Amino acid sequence: MEGQNERTFIAIKPDGVQRGIIGQIITRFEQKGFKLVAMKMLQPSEDLLIQHYIDLKGRPFFPALVNYMKSGPVVAMVWEGKGVVKTGRVMLGETNPADSKPGTIRGDFCIDVSKNIIHGSDSIESATKEISLWFKDDELTTYTSCAVSWIY
Ligand code: RTP
Ligand code: MG
Repeated sequence: MEGQNERTFIAIKPDGVQRGIIGQIITRFEQKGFKLVAMKMLQPSEDLLIQHYIDLKGRPFFPALVNYMKSGPVVAMVWEGKGVVKTGRVMLGETNPADSKPGTIRGDFCIDVSKNIIHGSDSIESATKEISLWFKDDELTTYTSCAVSWIY
């Protein structure tokens, strides 16, 4: 989906949950004007994580990545709005927090690439795949935000 209905998959990783910054991360997406359409907390299975990170399966850090991601609960979310995939990635910062600018989530809240606290879809195609992997259709809400005409 594109336009105002574009959606992205955002997940607060186990370190973000443990460090108590769920609220601050959600606040950034809310204050930007994006619309939350789905959210749940779960400890993901290894199968789900292998599918989620399937493109990285051959990389040396893959086993450590899966172990990290299944080590505790994550907060899985779907956010909606114009340009949310690309803007979401800008808000996250670079994969390595050392390269992330201050003002980005990774730039402000973490230090090491192996504990980079948040995931965001890297394209509209990945977003579509990830949303259907993590959420059932009936877990995605449809409602009109009362702020919509003040945002667009
Ligand atoms: P993500 O998918 O989690 O949003 O991260 P990303 O697109 O910025 O980066 P990606 O290349 O997809 O890597 C996925 C996650 O793997 C971990 N990683 N570790 N040790 C390493 O060199 C290394 N490289 C990547 C990070 O948790 C990264 O977010
Ligand atoms: Mg990625």
